Amino acid sequence: MRLILAAALALASGGALAQVVNHDPPVQAIMATAVNPGALAFWAGGNDPPDDETKADARIRWAEAVKGAQVMQAKGKALLDHSRPGPWNTFAQLMVDTAKAGEVAAKAKDAPKAFEIGGQLYDACNGCHKTYIPSPPRPD
Ligand code: HEC
Repeated sequence: MRLILAAALALASGGALAQVVNHDPPVQAIMATAVNPGALAFWAGGNDPPDDETKADARIRWAEAVKGAQVMQAKGKALLDHSRPGPWNTFAQLMVDTAKAGEVAAKAKDAPKAFEIGGQLYDACNGCHKTYIPSPPRPD
């Protein structure tokens, strides 16, 4: 169940992203300050709850998941304003659509559904990054 979070952290901690040479600062800021924290908050809804989570903690975790899904809808639309040639808009729109469905699942506190939607959301992140962020050279 924790797979998505692990993948997201790997993404955030560098790897291919370190290869971005010519940063696009507005897009980078949208990612770092809004999309990434929003996604982590949303994914926490679908992932296993922390050990010994109280009911009050769970309410906060789900409320943050709802907020995260709302942020990603708004920022997916913002990404359309920074469009690039190729499938950029498709991935941005996939983020908006999955986050919209994710908001419904998080409001219902439906963990299996949030997990499933979290996987689709990850496809939007990963698809766009694979297309627009150069992969590191192979060591040979
Ligand atoms: C429509 C394309 C697109 C989508 C969708 C997208 N990203 Fe990004 N992301 C980018 C681009 C382009 C960069 C590189 C920005 C730069 O540094 O110029 C980036 C960079 C990042 C970074 C590094 C930011 C930094 O501080 O350098 C993180 C973290 C990130 N994205 C997370 C995510 C997550 C999580 C999702 C999905 C919920 C996501 N992104 C969806 C295009 C996208």
